[in-house]
Amino acid sequence: MKKIILFLVLFSPFYLKAQKFDNLAMTPPMGWNSWNTFATEINEKLILETADILSSNGMKESGYSYLVLDDAWMAHDRDSQGNLVADPIKFPHGMKYVSDYVHSKGLKFGLYNCAGTQTCAGYPGTRGYEYQDARFYAAQGVDYLKFDWCHAEGENAQEAYKTMSKALKQAGRPVIFSLCEWGTNKPWEWASSIGHLWRTTGDISSQFEGLKDNGTWKSNGVMHIVDLQADLRKYAGPGHWNDPDMLEVGNGMKPGEDRAHFSLWCMMAAPLILGNDLRKMSPETLSILTNKEAISIDQDELGIQGYRASSENGLETWIKPLKNKELAICFVNRTEIPISVQYDWSKNPVHDDLSKTDIDFTQDTYSIKGVWEKLPKINTKKAFKGTVAPHDIILIHLTK
Ligand code: GLA
Repeated sequence: MKKIILFLVLFSPFYLKAQKFDNLAMTPPMGWNSWNTFATEINEKLILETADILSSNGMKESGYSYLVLDDAWMAHDRDSQGNLVADPIKFPHGMKYVSDYVHSKGLKFGLYNCAGTQTCAGYPGTRGYEYQDARFYAAQGVDYLKFDWCHAEGENAQEAYKTMSKALKQAGRPVIFSLCEWGTNKPWEWASSIGHLWRTTGDISSQFEGLKDNGTWKSNGVMHIVDLQADLRKYAGPGHWNDPDMLEVGNGMKPGEDRAHFSLWCMMAAPLILGNDLRKMSPETLSILTNKEAISIDQDELGIQGYRASSENGLETWIKPLKNKELAICFVNRTEIPISVQYDWSKNPVHDDLSKTDIDFTQDTYSIKGVWEKLPKINTKKAFKGTVAPHDIILIHLTK
């Protein structure tokens, strides 16, 4: 009898129901995070100024709505009741003050912690405090929690993230739950009922190709991350996204590389979490980050992650099926020299089982729109011709 009851409980729709909050992140989350530029050097002034800029320079209207404080917002010790405490020097008015300010600007507020005993930068981790910390976040008005994986020796990733997800649910304030365990335990296979996005790789660095050696660890150039994430597309969709890490646009790469990085994140339906100093952003960086067409490709409601359709001599062709049978196509030049593209549509039908897309360009004609540069009136009856600059892309949008 006991076995039957256990079976019924385990397989009841209630038990199988997602632990996370539903109907959040139905398109890839967009916002800003402090880590890529500021690491542990964060404070109230910086965050308030960032909220002012995000909400006044067109970025909020472009969709960037979550302002997330990464590691090092906390004091080194919990209080006598075991509650987390904001660092009193960096955040003299406390975290609720910052959260209220961010909300008053029409933005949403996020914080960071870790499943282990300490965060990666050595601040109090959540292990053993999941329910208490979740209540703390709810009381602080947190809308987004990034949850890291340092100092988690001996923990089972799936169980640890599930516990935090349940704790957040029980605390009652709807929150996007962002898993940051770097792909180590293949979260794409188990996290879609637990969280809304999961990192697929280690940390990004502001370089186009290869790995960056940081002494004891290596971070990943943009294209290295793209290569690692390319095969995970079947796991992504509305409410549950592969996360190839935050953006490095505006952090020192060349304009073409920034454009390519941003375009590929859009092609991969990646979360668009800015990682640059908004106070010092050039007009060129702002124009990349607020390109409406590119963002609409990322935010397409079908939520299909694009795929690499071909790769030849450093030229890659990426395809992302969009709503209304539209398509985004991105030609990526990974080499150091310009490459001419001549793309004969009649020889390149699109067959994608995942999105059930089947397009034969000899039967169907599409208009072609340039995302980064205006094109003359052209369509798919004639081969597409262009030159892709080194470490750059051509991104086009095909509409009926
Ligand atoms: C890890 C994460 C980063 C950042 C730092 C903070 O490396 O992957 O994104 O959150 O920790 O210490």
